[in-house]
Amino acid sequence: MSVHEHPAKVYPVHPQLKDSAVVKGLSEYQAMYEKSLADSDAFWADIAQRIDWFSPWHQVSQCDFSKAQVAWFLGAKLNVAHNCIDRHLKDKADQTAIIWEADDPADTRHISYRELHEEVCRAANALKAHGVQHGDRVCIYLPMIPELAYVMLACARIGAVHSIVFAGFSADALKDRILDCEAKVVVTADEGLRGGKAIGLKAITDQALEQTPCVSRLLVVRRTGAEVNMVAGRDCWYHEEVAKQRPTCPAAWVDAEDPLFILYTSGSTGKPKGVLHTSGGYITYASFTHQYVFDYRPGDIYFCAADIGWITGHSYIIYGPLANGATTIMFESTPLYPDAGRYWDVVERHKVNIFYTAPTAIRALAAEGDAFVKKYDRSSLRVMGTVGEPINPEAWGWYHDVVGDGRCAVVDTWWQTETGGIMITPQPGVNDMKPGSATLPFYGIEPVIVDEACNRQEDVEATGLLCMGRAWPGMARTVYGDHQRYVETYFSRVPGYYFTGDGCRRDKDGCYWITGRVDDVLNVSGHRLGTAEIEASINACDWIAESAVVGCHHDIKGTGIFAFVVLNRDNADHKDDFDAVFKTVREQVTADIGKIARPDHILISTGLPKTRSGKIMRRILRNIAKNEYEDMGNISTLADPSVVALLIEGHRKQFNS
Ligand code: WT7
Repeated sequence: MSVHEHPAKVYPVHPQLKDSAVVKGLSEYQAMYEKSLADSDAFWADIAQRIDWFSPWHQVSQCDFSKAQVAWFLGAKLNVAHNCIDRHLKDKADQTAIIWEADDPADTRHISYRELHEEVCRAANALKAHGVQHGDRVCIYLPMIPELAYVMLACARIGAVHSIVFAGFSADALKDRILDCEAKVVVTADEGLRGGKAIGLKAITDQALEQTPCVSRLLVVRRTGAEVNMVAGRDCWYHEEVAKQRPTCPAAWVDAEDPLFILYTSGSTGKPKGVLHTSGGYITYASFTHQYVFDYRPGDIYFCAADIGWITGHSYIIYGPLANGATTIMFESTPLYPDAGRYWDVVERHKVNIFYTAPTAIRALAAEGDAFVKKYDRSSLRVMGTVGEPINPEAWGWYHDVVGDGRCAVVDTWWQTETGGIMITPQPGVNDMKPGSATLPFYGIEPVIVDEACNRQEDVEATGLLCMGRAWPGMARTVYGDHQRYVETYFSRVPGYYFTGDGCRRDKDGCYWITGRVDDVLNVSGHRLGTAEIEASINACDWIAESAVVGCHHDIKGTGIFAFVVLNRDNADHKDDFDAVFKTVREQVTADIGKIARPDHILISTGLPKTRSGKIMRRILRNIAKNEYEDMGNISTLADPSVVALLIEGHRKQFNS
């Protein structure tokens, strides 16, 4: 039985939150929500007052989904780094902006807003000294160290555009991203350190930079002190460069619609897309959602355990919290190092009030047992968030009952790289929680469900494709260098709407239950991967003729990766050498993309189920990977229906005998 067939268990709003939260109860939410839709421009103009603008806008919004046109706060000038740092200096200079929790639990650093200002100014001046100007792209390939925050905010300070590449991606993936955005400068570290293991980031970057003529400078942060090869004329040590610079740097006046950053994310076809976010709308939305969704209160210690290489880290470790003058924790390590108690150790030592993580981490920790949690004092916790994939009710229950002692609000936040910030979510003190449901839309957000034929479903209870009926300030403006792809991906499948790529159900209370991607995108441990990218990599193995990748059940990752591979005729001998094929495939994918994309299972097959026009019927493969051998539906359109029986036989032998 799927979770969606269970009658939903409801956890009422915790009374102690109701009276003190920023929004008090459902009726207050409803009134504000209605207002946000009734006069959207007036609403957002009011919300945008939370940001410091150097000069005002002449128009609040200019949005038209039928033309894929989105612009907010037109003509206004601001600086995002000023909003995240400078404006807090008058009353919070000595407050901690960032608590850096290093891989080694004994290594913690508190960085005040004053220090952050100085570090960011030095970094900004160093970037300028190396030729970075307004609009130029800077690629950041760093682990979770303070310099990552300094460099991203330094870009924002001078109006440069950062493109952060998760430090788990391979040299090839890094190269593609550098080339796509034509980065002028790259920033990396000698090594990264996670779970006591060093990762040679400089060596990986060197490999990537062999094929990137656009890059003129590589700045290298010293993290571990490992010996690295410095290329004369190209490479400089970050610490030497910033030491030469003055600790002040004016914050450039940028246009509200000037790009703030590019972040690559996978789609159902082709190479990852450079999702582009701009300045004014993004920072307004990140700051607003951070306060309301987490019920952030001045003085709170806020811990989002994501990596800044993903959108969650951009919006909810750096931009949202710092715009709100919060104390935000940057965590370099893993949830299992030195043991499964690490998060709760951090919560106890830093007296964390708000904690935000992903279902995959919750499941991994739940599997280690309650003792690791109970060993630590978690009484400071008030709100706990989850993001990245649907959370199964068991994991939700463990999070709420064990980690939160049944006392804290759990917010299951649905959003995407493209949405810039949280879109559908419960709010502490506002609505009842339903494990597995992201519940209600945030202010100004108008979810729309359509059926396969794009008919808008007007009934409260409905199932279909999740779209958005109107624009919001935090949404992506384009795919960098390929606006047509933006139009096709988000505004063509369902004309007049923003198409999310997710399926969902709306229940009788108007709560949303996300059922997962409806396209060829896999969500593995909350990370987005395109089946096409993984297949392209597998097909690059010498031995392999073709492959098809589908998602399968995985206890911890939520979705695992299952690859059906067909060997070249010449190499058909290898079919008995499963281990060698498995190893080769995994090594190839690790080299092309990174470890996160490695298949969990492969099945060597003699053929794939293709229609007469050559399209792979993934539905069949998904069923087989799920052990569902019966009910394959209509297979009469297959070019060769007999492959299905062979695939089933192969799968049964390998997995169920
Ligand atoms: C996809 C977006 C937004 C930061 C992390 C992922 C899935 C995200 C939830 C949730 C169910 C969720 C969707 C979405 N997703 N949050 N709370 N419940 N599904 O960002 O890599 O852009 O992935 O993640 O399928 O489309 P992303």
